[in-house]
Amino acid sequence: MDRFIIEGNRHLSGSIAVSGAKNAILPVMAACLLAPGKSVLRNVPNLIDLKTMAHLLRVLGAHVDYDRGMMSIDSATICYNEAPYELVSQMRASIYVLGPLLARLGEARVSFPGGCAIGTRPVDLHLKAMEALGATINIEHGYIHAWAEKLTGAEIYFAKSSVGATINALMAAVLAEGTTHMFNAAMEPEVDSTIDMLNKMGARIAGKGSTSLTIEGVENLFPVEMRMIPDRIEAGTFLIAAALGTAPVTVTDCLPEHLAILLEKLRAAGCQLDVQDTAITVTPPRKILPVDVLTLPYPGFPTDLQAQFTVLMSLAEGVSFVEDTIFPDRFLYVAELNRLQANIRMERNVACVKGVSQLSGAEVMANDLRASAALVLAGMVAEGTTVISRIYHIDRGYDRIEEKLNGIGARITRERA
Ligand code: UD1
Repeated sequence: MDRFIIEGNRHLSGSIAVSGAKNAILPVMAACLLAPGKSVLRNVPNLIDLKTMAHLLRVLGAHVDYDRGMMSIDSATICYNEAPYELVSQMRASIYVLGPLLARLGEARVSFPGGCAIGTRPVDLHLKAMEALGATINIEHGYIHAWAEKLTGAEIYFAKSSVGATINALMAAVLAEGTTHMFNAAMEPEVDSTIDMLNKMGARIAGKGSTSLTIEGVENLFPVEMRMIPDRIEAGTFLIAAALGTAPVTVTDCLPEHLAILLEKLRAAGCQLDVQDTAITVTPPRKILPVDVLTLPYPGFPTDLQAQFTVLMSLAEGVSFVEDTIFPDRFLYVAELNRLQANIRMERNVACVKGVSQLSGAEVMANDLRASAALVLAGMVAEGTTVISRIYHIDRGYDRIEEKLNGIGARITRERA
C-alpha cells in the first residue's frame, strides 16, 4: 500500500486550485440513470470514489467514459438493477442508485451498506422515503430489495437532516406521479447542485436552498451537460493548510459562499482573509487563537472539516473544544495526532484540544478520508519527518493532493508499495 513521506516545517506560499466536488458528482452520476441517453459532466477530478461509481453504473449497463476532467454517461442501455456487495462495501454512496433504479426500472437490489471508520451509518431515512413514495422494501440476504409498480407523490418528513436521503428521495420523486412535499430536507450545496442537474434534465423541483422542497413529478427526463461545483471540503482543507503556514496562500477556483462558517472560524483563529469571487487569500496569524467548533448540517460547520480544523487547534495558544454532532465517533484520528505530540483528550464525544507549540514527526496511519487529510496537514507543520501509511483513503477524495500541496511549498513524497 502507498505511503506519504512528509518533510515538515516548510515555508508555504503561492496559490493552490480546487477541483470539482466529489460529493456533488457522485449523486449526479446516479441521476444520469434517470435520463436515457448521454449526459456530460465537466470539472470532474480523477478520484477513486468516482471510478467506483463509474464501475457501478457500468455494471448496471451504462456506458461511462472519462477523459481529462470530462465524464460522459450514456444510460440508454441500463438493464440490470443490482448494486453488488463488492462495490457498495467500497463506497457507501453506491446507495445513490436506489432512487434512480426504482424510478426508471421499478425495482432495485442494493447491498446493505455496513458501518465504516466514522461510525455506524444507517440508511433508514432513505428507505422510509422510498416507502412513502409507494415502494415495497424487503431486507434479504444482506440486500435492500425495493420495488414499485409505480411511484406516487407523497409527504416526506425527514426525522434528521440527511444529505444522502434527501438526494435519493429527490431522484425517486422526480418521476413519481403527482406532487411530493419534503420537510427538513438537507440544504448542503451538493443537494442544490443535484437539484440544478435534475431541473436541467426537465424535473420540476422548487424550494432549492431551503428545508422544504416541492417536486411535481414529470413523465420523462432528458440527458444534459453540466459543470460541477468546486469541492468546498478540498477548499477548506487547503484554507486550513494556509492558516497553519507563515505566509499568504491563495486558494483559487472555489466558491467562498459555500465556506462562510469556516471563514468565520479562521478569522476567529486570527487569520486575515481576502475574499474574492472565486478565490480566498489567507494570511496566517503569528499566534493561532483557540476556537470552539460544533459540527452541524449546512450552513453549520461541516463534519468533513472537523479533523482538519482540530489540527489547526492543536497548535493554538490555549484550549479549544471540538464536538461532532453529525458523526459523534469521528475521532479515531486523535490517537494518531497525539503520536505527533498533539495534546488532545476525548471527554465522551468532545475533543478537548490543548494547543502545543510544535508537533513532532512520527509514523501514523490514516483511517478515513478526511482524517488522512488532517494527518497530511499535521505532517506538513511537524518538526522532522512524518510517514502516513494507508493513504488509499485520501485518493478516494483528493485528486493529486501531494502534487497540489507541493506546489505551495510542501515536501510530500508518495512511496509506492
Ligand atoms: C454525506 C457526505 C459525507 C458527509 C455527510 C454529512 C457524500 C457521499 N457523503 O454523507 O462526506 O460527512 O454527508 O455532511 O456526500 N442518518 C440516519 N439515517 C439515514 C441517513 C443518515 O440516521 O438513513 C444520519 C447519519 O448517521 C448522520 C446524519 O444522519 O448522523 C447525516 O448523515 P447524511 O447527511 O445522510 O450523510 P451521508 O449522506 O451519508
